[in-house]
Amino acid sequence: MATSSAAEKPIRKICCIGAGYVGGPTCSVLALKCPDIQVTVVDRSELRINQWNSSKLPIYEPGLEEIVLKCRGKNLFFSTDMAPALQEADLIFISVNTPTKTFGLGKGRAADLKFVESCARLIAEVCNTSKIVVEKSTVPVRSAASIINILKANTKPGISFQVLSNPEFLAEGTAVNDLTNPDRVLIGGENSDAGRRAIAALSAVYENWVPVEKIIHTNTWSSELSKLAANAFLAQRISSINAISAVCEATGADVSEVAQAIGMDSRLGSKFLQASVGFGGSCFQKDLLNLVYISESLNLTSVAAYWQQVIDMNEYQKQRFSQRIVQAMFNTITDKHITILGFAFKKNTGDTRESPAIYVAQHLLEEGACLHIYDPKVEKDQILLDLNQSDSGNEKRVVIFKDPYDAAKNTHAIVVCTEWDQFITYDYQRLYDSMLKPAFLFDGRKILDHAALSKIGFHVETIGKRPGHSFQEQNWAGVNGN
Ligand code: UDX
Ligand code: ADP
Repeated sequence: MATSSAAEKPIRKICCIGAGYVGGPTCSVLALKCPDIQVTVVDRSELRINQWNSSKLPIYEPGLEEIVLKCRGKNLFFSTDMAPALQEADLIFISVNTPTKTFGLGKGRAADLKFVESCARLIAEVCNTSKIVVEKSTVPVRSAASIINILKANTKPGISFQVLSNPEFLAEGTAVNDLTNPDRVLIGGENSDAGRRAIAALSAVYENWVPVEKIIHTNTWSSELSKLAANAFLAQRISSINAISAVCEATGADVSEVAQAIGMDSRLGSKFLQASVGFGGSCFQKDLLNLVYISESLNLTSVAAYWQQVIDMNEYQKQRFSQRIVQAMFNTITDKHITILGFAFKKNTGDTRESPAIYVAQHLLEEGACLHIYDPKVEKDQILLDLNQSDSGNEKRVVIFKDPYDAAKNTHAIVVCTEWDQFITYDYQRLYDSMLKPAFLFDGRKILDHAALSKIGFHVETIGKRPGHSFQEQNWAGVNGN
């Protein structure tokens, strides 16, 4: 067996750089499942760290608060003091954000790796012993090469670094369950003795709660690419069913029925076939853009064009839904008041990154509407920031409500943008009675009982289905007394 290195020792101390949607929940579950490992999450944002150390965590994730309360101060710590935490650690997770570049080469498509790079530089600068460095952030394929280069170029004599790729597959809203019972854990590393030892050391951490057959070992580049590919495939399924939803609206087919029929084919499966106003979230669009950019850079133009279509279809879906609202409301919404139910990109999160609700709201504002917005978890300031609105002045075009019934009062329409469970059980008769008539309801998530809503008197429109009775038909029926 080869000589000793940091990789051979069991991992006792872990430091994670980045206390965001990935780093926070991942390390909390790790601390819960590995009571013998000390986990310190560091971040340069003092506000974030203070929030993690307070009674109101910076992110909402079902089940997370209980875990943090159980482990915080025991084997889970949140700190801005990065150097000591890095120096003490056997293993370091890099879990910082990799946003899409907003300037320069690859603007609007390539991932900006400046935060990952600054982590690598900091690790090289402050660490005096060998470490395993694990790339957890979603990064373009071959990013580990840059981390390795930076570490190698700046390493002090006598110490070595092993760089692994260990992408995180958790989805927001279900993060705790995804981390506790993952479909798989993917670890990519260098094909060498030292690389294999580092992989084994990280595997041993996960083996505290994940069955060994679910822990996959690959080469570094396969691991990096698998994360991008998995997100691209999931997004592609949504764009595919959304494309079919447009055909349904034009033909009279019902996309829910089509999705059920497709999903019962065991080769396809039923997940990620829910037609919607479009996908959002911090990952899908960013990773697709990234894949397109990488393919173009590799001169694989047909591959790039293929994945670009998944993004284009998502834009088309958001646009179609927004336009349909205006068309149904007699082609004008100027000065009309419209209630938006749900602003988060999906239920059970307060995250609004790339939320389709932002697109829909902006479209309605451009058409002159005034918006009443209610979301159970998104903070008021976040919504105003996303819509570039201020909270001062008399002429407020966007008002944020704490109660859905107050929000809907005296408005012309309700638009459902997020699939929160609580929206399903509201008293829609009460909402209808408080609204201006005709009262419209646009269900961008297909979660409500449309027949019951029509019976109450709503003009209902949804994705992938023609309206049961158009407003004109209802009126005509009323005039004829039948
Ligand atoms: C995604 C991946 O699922 C996860 O594995 C990866 O680690 C990060 O990216 P996330 O973006 O948190 O997770 O949520 P996800 O459940 O995938 O939903 C993404 C978007 O697609 C949401 O806006 C959701 O509403 C939408 N969606 C999802 C649909 O419109 N229809 C579906 O059938 C499923
Ligand atoms: P993700 O969804 O990938 O977790 P977030 O934006 O929620 O992304 O979290 C990333 C976190 O990483 C932020 O809290 C940010 O302050 C932190 N961060 C980014 N760069 C650095 C850095 N160089 N050092 C320390 N923390 C960083």
